[in-house]
Amino acid sequence: MIITCADIDGFKNLHNVCISPDPQYNIIIGRNAQGKTNLLEAMWILTGCKSFRGSRDKDFIAHDGKAMHSQISFRDFRRVQKISFDLSKTQAGRSICVNDVKVKGTSSLFDIFKCIVFTPDDSEIIKGSPEKRRNFIDMAASQLNPISVVHLTRSNALLNQRNAVLKNVITGLSKRSELSVWDKQVAKEASFVSFMRYDYVSKLSCVCNQLYRNITGGCEELSVGYRSNVFSQQDFSNLHCGPEAYDLYFSKLQENTDYDLKFGYTHTGIGRDEITVRINGYNAKDFASQGQIKSAALVMKLAQAQLYCAQSRETPVVFLDDVMGELDESRQKLVFDIVKNMQVFITCCNESALLPEINGKIFRVADGLVSEEV
Ligand SMILES: Nc1ncnc2c1ncn2[C@@H]1O[C@H](COP(=O)(O)OP(=O)(O)O)[C@@H](O)[C@H]1O
Ligand SMILES: [Mg+2]
Repeated sequence: MIITCADIDGFKNLHNVCISPDPQYNIIIGRNAQGKTNLLEAMWILTGCKSFRGSRDKDFIAHDGKAMHSQISFRDFRRVQKISFDLSKTQAGRSICVNDVKVKGTSSLFDIFKCIVFTPDDSEIIKGSPEKRRNFIDMAASQLNPISVVHLTRSNALLNQRNAVLKNVITGLSKRSELSVWDKQVAKEASFVSFMRYDYVSKLSCVCNQLYRNITGGCEELSVGYRSNVFSQQDFSNLHCGPEAYDLYFSKLQENTDYDLKFGYTHTGIGRDEITVRINGYNAKDFASQGQIKSAALVMKLAQAQLYCAQSRETPVVFLDDVMGELDESRQKLVFDIVKNMQVFITCCNESALLPEINGKIFRVADGLVSEEV
């Protein structure tokens, strides 16, 4: 996909931005705190994903403003489409339109406009909590297969319900027998999530290994694995996601109910899954150096982009926020080799840190104003 035009106003410090990006490289230059990341974020919210820097709706509107507007037109393999997102301090809720038709929530955007963002925070995928890795895998897998979002949302809602019932059983408000009703439903939805994670991680691991070898000149190995506490590797090979798998998940939930009832919380299943990242066989979270962590995170994101392109007719739009300046020449080359057929937005403070072959449109950002260099 290619963004052909973006109009943004009142999003954080951005005023009256109207740009027509280059179909390939867009270099966004400016000193710190001028609005470069805000520009990417204002386009990112149109993917239907949460802000990549954790901002919430109320943070989007300029401190001294009343409303914000972000709109892009983009070309996919079929046609030109338009998405707009408006938010106002006075009116409740947001107004999101796809091709001028109002849609209900951001989740319907997820299947329309696809982006991959690289930020310095990506290291958290490696060194952060297991939840960070699960979220990364869930989001990346959902990009390939949007129905996964439905199963993820349902599983989370059902697990919350189950936890609420556990607490009610503890306080005597519910009977233990009520849990089975929830367990049956959790087992079905969560089995889907487990198999989805297994499938995606298997694919990701192959690509990551290859890319990491390229980065390290063949000296180091990166492997990504999925550890479920319900299904063994053998179960994943022998079963498919169907009644047998649901029964197994259900029985694991039931087996652990006594323990869950001590804490009022579900300790079995997808909420406890671990995605392991190993370098040369050692757990990267505990043993990798800063440099290895950065490279591993970069490789995981590049692998995500590569898998997406291999499985869909589209290329995602790529945002490289403050990451190129930190990479040495060989790593920059690897990145550009993978994103060469995609539309890319690169933010940096200083263009001299970029490889000379990266040429496209240059946009200068100063105090929330964006101007194209001609
Ligand atoms: N809601 C807001 N209203 C106005 N300005 C904001 C808001 N949120 C953040 N900012 C400003 O945006 C700037 C940071 O922009 P950012 O895009 O992160 O900078 P950078 O160019 O370094 O990427 C800061 O000056 C910050 O004060
Ligand atoms: Mg920034």
